[in-house]
Amino acid sequence: MIITIDGPAGSGKSTAARLLAERLGFEFLNTGAMYRAIAFRVLAQGIDPSDDERVVQCAESAAIRFEKGRLTLDGDDITDAIQSESVSLAASQVAVNPAVREVLVGLQRRAAEGKRMVSEGRDQGTVVFPGAEAKFFLTATAECRARRRQAELAQRGEEVEFESLLATIRERDERDVSRAVAPLVPADDAVEIDTSEITVAELVDQLATCVRDRLPES
Ligand code: DC
Repeated sequence: MIITIDGPAGSGKSTAARLLAERLGFEFLNTGAMYRAIAFRVLAQGIDPSDDERVVQCAESAAIRFEKGRLTLDGDDITDAIQSESVSLAASQVAVNPAVREVLVGLQRRAAEGKRMVSEGRDQGTVVFPGAEAKFFLTATAECRARRRQAELAQRGEEVEFESLLATIRERDERDVSRAVAPLVPADDAVEIDTSEITVAELVDQLATCVRDRLPES
C-alpha cells in the first residue's frame, strides 16, 4: 500500500510525509534525499553536474541506504551534509538526467516492495507509483517556500539572504517543471493542497483524514 506526496521544494512535503508515515505506522521514503546523495557524490568527486556520462556512472556505483531516519552513502552518514544550498542546486541538475532517474526509480520501487509506505518527491504519483492508493500534490507560494527554507537553513547555522533563496527556488522550480523526463506535475488523481496558510499539524490532519476517507479499512 503506497501513499505518494509530490510537490515543489519547500511545499512542506518532507515533514508532512514523515509525520503522516509515523501516524499511520507506514515506512517513509524521501526520494529527494536520493537525488541529493547522487549530487553530493558528484560534487565530492569533482564531476561537473552537467557531464551526463560521468554523473550516470557515479549514480550507478553509489551505495545509498536509509536506516532509522539516517541516510548513508558508501557507508558514510551524509544526512546533514546533503541539506546545503550547493547540494540542492546540484540535485536539481542531476535530476534532469534520464539515466540517473532510471537508476533511482528502480531503487525506489525496490524499497517499496511488500511495504506500506509514504513516498515523497516530484514524480512519485505520476511515474514511480502510478497505482498508489492515495496521492497528494502540495503547493505553496514561492515567497512562502523561500521563507521556510531560510528558517530551516538558519536552524542548521547557514545564513542565506531571502532574495537569493527566492531566486534559487524559482530556478529549481523552472528546472523541475520543464524537464523532459518526469516533470513536476500533479497526477490526474492527486488531491492538491495549498500549504501556504496552514500549519504542519493541520496539514498532517488533513492528509490523514483524506487517507482514511479513501481507505476506510486503514
Ligand atoms: O525534495 P528535494 O528538494 O530534497 O529534492 C532535491 C531535488 O531532487 C529537486 O530539485 C528535484 C529532484 N527530485 C526529483 O527530480 N524527483 C524526485 N522524486 C525527488 C527529487
